[in-house]
Amino acid sequence: MKKPVVQSKKKKKNIVIIGAQWGDEGKAKMVDVLTEQVDIVARYQGGSNAGHTVVTGGKKFVFHQIPSGILHKGKKCVIGNGVVLDPVALIGEIKSLAFEGVKIHDRLILSDRAHLLMPYHRLLDGASEARKGSGKIGTTNRGIGPAYMDKMARVGVKVVDLFDPVSFRQKLRIIVKEKNFFLKNYYGRPMVSADKIADQYLKLGSIIKPLIQDTTVYLESALKKGHAVLAEGAQGTLLDVDFGTYPYVTSSSASVGGVCTGLGVGPRWWDEIYGVAKAYATRVGEGPFTSEMDEVFGEKIRQRGGEFGATTGRPRRCGWMDLVALKYACRVNGFTGILLTKIDVLSNLPTLKICTSYQIEGKKVSEFPAGLNTLSKAKPVYREMKGWQGDLAHAESIKDLPVEARRYIDEIEKYIQVPIQWVSVGPDRSQIFPRS
Ligand code: GDP
Ligand code: IMO
Ligand code: MG
Repeated sequence: MKKPVVQSKKKKKNIVIIGAQWGDEGKAKMVDVLTEQVDIVARYQGGSNAGHTVVTGGKKFVFHQIPSGILHKGKKCVIGNGVVLDPVALIGEIKSLAFEGVKIHDRLILSDRAHLLMPYHRLLDGASEARKGSGKIGTTNRGIGPAYMDKMARVGVKVVDLFDPVSFRQKLRIIVKEKNFFLKNYYGRPMVSADKIADQYLKLGSIIKPLIQDTTVYLESALKKGHAVLAEGAQGTLLDVDFGTYPYVTSSSASVGGVCTGLGVGPRWWDEIYGVAKAYATRVGEGPFTSEMDEVFGEKIRQRGGEFGATTGRPRRCGWMDLVALKYACRVNGFTGILLTKIDVLSNLPTLKICTSYQIEGKKVSEFPAGLNTLSKAKPVYREMKGWQGDLAHAESIKDLPVEARRYIDEIEKYIQVPIQWVSVGPDRSQIFPRS
C-alpha cells in the first residue's frame, strides 16, 4: 500500500485536531497519521474520559490521557494545563504502554498548572449520576464534571501543589470537609479521608515529578525554534460545554477556544484547524440526537462500525450524517479542513440519508438550535442518496471509490463549504488518502 503523503514537507504547520460531532470521530487515528509531520503532540482538555484508538499493523492501542502521537519514536507528547489529570490512571497508562514495548522516557511532559483529578471527583460523579436517575447525563464516570467544577469554583488542586506537601495537606483537609458533607448528607455515600488521599497523591507526585514542567515555556521555546505542534482535542464540538447540547455535554472546551486556554499557546501560532467527522454520526450517553437511526438499523451500523465506547465499552447510539450540526461545528471552530472517517462502514447499503435541515413545529430550521427543548422537538429532513457496493478498505485514492461514494463526499462538502481534505477507509493508520 502506498504511504500517504499527508502534508507538504516544505513548511511545518501547527495543527489543531478537533472532534466535529459527539466524540469518537476517529481523532486519534488522524493524530497518529499527522504526527509524522510535527514534533510535538499536545492534549489541551478533557481527561481520562477520552478513549483514543490507534491501530497499526493489526495492533490496537487505546489512549486516555497520553497523547495519541506517543507511538512515534522521537516525538514529544505534552499534557497541557487544560487537562484534568488523573495521576492514578496516568501511571496505569504508562505501565501498560511499557508492557507493549512503548517507552515514554523523556518524551512525556506534564503541565505543572493542570488540575488534579481527585478520588472524591470520581465518587461525586457516580453519586450525582445515580441521584439523577433517568435524568442522568450518562457520563463516563471518570470524575470529569466534578473536577472542572472545582477548578472553576477555585477549590481545585493543581499538579504544582503536590510539591508543597504541607500546604497540599492543609488544602485537602479544608476541601474534603465539604466533599464529605455532600457525600454523606446529600448522597448517603461513605466519606473519604483527606490524610489518606494526601499520602497517596504525594507518593504519586514523587513518581511523576520528572515529567513535570512549565509546558507554556516548553511549547513557546519549541515553536520559536520552528518545531511544529499538533493540538489533540478530546470529545467533540457537540459535547463542548459552550457549544454542545447542554447539559448533555462534557465540562470542558472541546472546541477551538480550548486550545489556547488549555495549552497557553495563542491563536497566532495555529496554521490549520482540522475537524474530524465520521461519515455518519454517533453519540454515547444521553441527550438529543436528531438524526438517530431506529434501533434495528442502528444496531446494524453499530456492529459494522464497532461502535462501542473505547473508555466504557458502552454501545454508541448511531445516526445518519447531520449536516446542520456539522455546519455549526465548522462555524464555531473555523475549520480549515475536514478529515472524513469511516466511510467504509456505509458500504453495501441501498440508500443513504443525509440530514440537511430540521423541522421544528412545522418550520424548516437550518441552524443548530441553542435550546435543548427546541432541539428535542427537531425532526430530521433527509436527502436520500444512492448507496454503493463493495469494500472500500483497500481504496488508496479517491479514484478507487465508487462514484456514489464520491458523490456522498461531494454532497457533504457542498453543504458545509469546508474542504474535505482526507478520507479514511479503515482503522489502520495506512487506510487513508488525501481527497484530491
Ligand atoms: P476518537 O475518540 O475520536 O479518537 O475515536 P475512537 O478511538 O473512540 O473511535 C473511533 C473508532 O473507529 C476506533 O475503533 C478506530 O480504530 C476506528 N476507526 C477510525 N477511522 C476509521 C475508519 O476510517 N474506518 C473504520 N472502519 N474504523 C475507523
Ligand atoms: P473521545 O475523546 C464520546 C460523553 C459521555 C457523556 C458526556 C459527559 O474519545 O471522543 P463526561 O464523563 O465527560 O462528564 O461525560 O460526554 N463523552 C464522550 N463521548 N467520546 C468521548 O471522548 C467522550 N468523553 C465524554 O458519554 O455523554
Ligand atoms: Mg473515543
